[in-house]
Amino acid sequence: MKKLTLSLTLLLPILLVGLTTSSKSPAVQQDDPHVRVADAEYIGATRCRTCHRTEKSGGQFGIWEESAHAKAFATLASEKALAIGKEKGIDNPQEAPECLQCHVAGYDAPAEQLGAKYDKTEGVTCESCHGPGGDYYKKSTMEGITKGEIDPATVGLIKPDEAVCRTCHNENSPTFDGFDFEARSAEIAHPIPEETKAAL
Ligand code: HEC
Ligand code: HEC
Ligand code: HEC
Ligand code: HEC
Repeated sequence: MKKLTLSLTLLLPILLVGLTTSSKSPAVQQDDPHVRVADAEYIGATRCRTCHRTEKSGGQFGIWEESAHAKAFATLASEKALAIGKEKGIDNPQEAPECLQCHVAGYDAPAEQLGAKYDKTEGVTCESCHGPGGDYYKKSTMEGITKGEIDPATVGLIKPDEAVCRTCHNENSPTFDGFDFEARSAEIAHPIPEETKAAL
């Protein structure tokens, strides 16, 4: 499972490039769940907020909003970011793909995949870790996944593991200082309450 998620994440940009250059490529199977992941629409974190802000749901939106991930785009305007940029000949990190690739969701997705509510200033969002939400955000789909009736992969919902974190938390980050998956996951934990799951 880990290997699958990793290769999927690494393949995503390649798939996307393939889709923009030739959308009718014979190699692309429309019913392949991996392709559905690649071409689902980014709907933005405010869309997830609608259902994931209540105590009953586990308040995922509020937890994320308070986290460093929600500030990842703003961070690229900090003095530290400007200094790092300067060393690399980058004037504005908020416009540089070299920085945006890990500091916002969907940075290299084709325009048609960015929904009306997509907003890069939201930084590293739900969709950075769980995949673009266009095919899984409906209530019945979401409940079906939690009840175990729908395979999340078929609608592009990623259950993130360490490999997903390491697509950004790695040596290519100019400020990288190691990554302890267990400890860092605990810092951003946002589980669904057991009683909510049981009531579904
Ligand atoms: C799309 C890239 C991306 C992914 C995927 C990602 N992160 Fe991050 N993460 C960042 C960035 C960028 C920051 C720094 C944001 C800032 O300080 O403005 C960060 C910061 C953090 C922080 C705050 C502490 C610190 O080191 O500054 C924690 C904790 C964290 N990430 C945990 C995780 C975990 C756990 C996962 C996987 C489940 C994960 N991240 C996946 C990009 C990512
Ligand atoms: C940095 C990566 C990251 C971000 C950002 C993130 N999540 Fe998660 N999320 C995870 C991980 C890791 C898990 C635990 C593995 C799992 O159950 O999928 C998880 C689990 C969940 C769960 C299921 C918990 C359970 O008990 O089964 C929900 C619901 C969820 N996330 C919603 C959200 C929403 C909504 C947002 C944005 C407001 C968000 N997540 C942002 C990484 C992330
Ligand atoms: C229309 C309401 C709605 C929207 C919008 C929505 N969700 Fe959900 N989501 C739910 C419900 C309902 C569940 C089932 C658990 C519960 O009752 O809280 C769920 C469950 C989940 C789970 C856990 C799946 C599992 O493995 O059990 C994740 C992860 C998740 N949502 C992420 C997201 C993300 C990311 C977004 C935005 C891109 C989003 N959701 C938007 C209603 C929604
Ligand atoms: C490979 C992914 C990746 C790339 C590329 C990347 N970052 Fe980051 N950045 C992260 C992660 C992950 C964190 C949080 C943990 C860490 O410092 O490694 C972070 C944190 C930061 C921080 C906050 C550090 C602190 O100590 O407060 C700044 C500032 C920053 N990045 C600037 C930049 C700039 C400027 C660029 C482009 C030149 C860039 N980053 C490119 C992943 C990346």
